[in-house]
Amino acid sequence: MRRELLGWYDCNKRDLPWRHTQDPYAIWVSEIMLQQTRVAAVIEKYTAFLERFATVEELAKADEQDVLALWSGLGYYRRARMLHKAAQSVVSEHEGRMPASADRLRKLPGIGSYTAAAIASIAHDEAVAVVDGNVERVLSRIRGWESHDSVGEAAVRRKVEEFAAGLVDPRRAGDFNQAIMELGATVCTPRNPQCLVCPWAKECRTLGEHKTPKRAAMTSREIACALVVRDGDAGTEVFLEQRAATNTVMPGLWELPALDVGDCVDLEERMAVRHAIMQVNYVVRVYALSAEGLNEKAGGVRRWVVAAHASDMALTGLARKVLTRAGLLRTKTRGTKFASPALRN
Ligand code: ADE
Repeated sequence: MRRELLGWYDCNKRDLPWRHTQDPYAIWVSEIMLQQTRVAAVIEKYTAFLERFATVEELAKADEQDVLALWSGLGYYRRARMLHKAAQSVVSEHEGRMPASADRLRKLPGIGSYTAAAIASIAHDEAVAVVDGNVERVLSRIRGWESHDSVGEAAVRRKVEEFAAGLVDPRRAGDFNQAIMELGATVCTPRNPQCLVCPWAKECRTLGEHKTPKRAAMTSREIACALVVRDGDAGTEVFLEQRAATNTVMPGLWELPALDVGDCVDLEERMAVRHAIMQVNYVVRVYALSAEGLNEKAGGVRRWVVAAHASDMALTGLARKVLTRAGLLRTKTRGTKFASPALRN
């Protein structure tokens, strides 16, 4: 099974930036970004993050807002905060050197069994198995293990972990782990698995007959926010609001001021954008307002920001999307762009 899988991986693996390094820090960054986020979204963010924070020391001494700014758009910002804290602990308690073994990596804040095994196997070829959702699907399909409730799920998980631990190739542990994850991501997919091209088809008891639990249904919600801009001395400025530090969702990130949908009936809609967060599809209606048109709000920090600088801030993914569509954010390829005159007020 090892030979079949690794032979397939050598010919079919995607060329991904984190596959060109053995640096445990870079591998760590990639693995944290890849949790719950699509590969395509990670590629660009990974490269920019490592250009800015090339070493664990540089990440450790960074300002948290700068770390969040580079994480912007990836979502699940707690991962970025934990990564930052753990980098500080590598510097203060391990003289800036990443612990090498999975056991010692697991003692760092925010590094669980999955991340520890991924770093130790990919950077150092330690023969520890990585079990994520993809691996669990692939191996349970091979054996025909199904679960019908949470007790069954835990039992399948234990069997998969044991199976994976015995299967991992001691000579190419990092490639082996990445190969199973790759197989799950590209061939043994949740729906329509491509059994005809699977290197393990003849080992597999289920060959696509295995049911994968249905995804939770998406719900839809409509929300509204205000796009408030003015001409300032240093160029167009936009009015932003910082989410409270006590907020459980995206604390400390900057966003456009929220409006109540019911208060917007007489306002002229500037644009509508779609934005998905976890199981919710948002339709976000954006209204161009003047600062006087906003309600006074107790508490939250609100600030005029030079639009050309906003892209370096810790913006929420939605704020980045709206400001980009409005032509307000500086982008890498096109240089600084400002809002059309019609947008200013
Ligand atoms: N998913 C998460 N990490 C991965 C990796 N290193 N290779 C393939 N898929 C992954």
